[in-house]
Amino acid sequence: MLSKKIEAAINGQINWELYSSYLYLSMSADAAAKNLTGMASWLMSQSQEEVTHAMKLYNHVIERGGTISLAPIGAVKASWKNPLEAFKDALEHEKGVTDKINKIVDMAIAEKDHATHNMLHWFVDEQVEEEANATAIVEKLKLIGDNPGPLYMLDKELGGRPLLFTIPKGD
Ligand code: FEO
Repeated sequence: MLSKKIEAAINGQINWELYSSYLYLSMSADAAAKNLTGMASWLMSQSQEEVTHAMKLYNHVIERGGTISLAPIGAVKASWKNPLEAFKDALEHEKGVTDKINKIVDMAIAEKDHATHNMLHWFVDEQVEEEANATAIVEKLKLIGDNPGPLYMLDKELGGRPLLFTIPKGD
């Protein structure tokens, strides 16, 4: 059985992961509007991945006999000056997610909730990867600067990331 405190924290994290999905979806739309189709696809894949993070937490609450409570998802920014600004925002966002995960880990340790602690191990590892991915793209974008050729190449590279599920076309 989950304590009410842990249950509330995990529900909060579900909201945050869905907010993350929303944020990446908005970044994807902005990249698509700027014809950066590879980046748009990478960001769409990331948006989908965030939903799976929310669902992992959701399933933990259900399996432990807890109650799911879904709060409204906050509004996100709609446009970024350039890809560097967007990926810098993504990196800062991921650092914030890491802090939130670490706080719930601390809570689980304090309450000796071993099952929650164990489940959160996956998120601790995942956050290392999330921050590393965003950092690598930020660093490449810094090197690229205003050069359209290398930006085109990076866009192509990022477009190689597969989607988790296909999206029906709008036409
Ligand atoms: Fe679910 Fe990007 O952290």
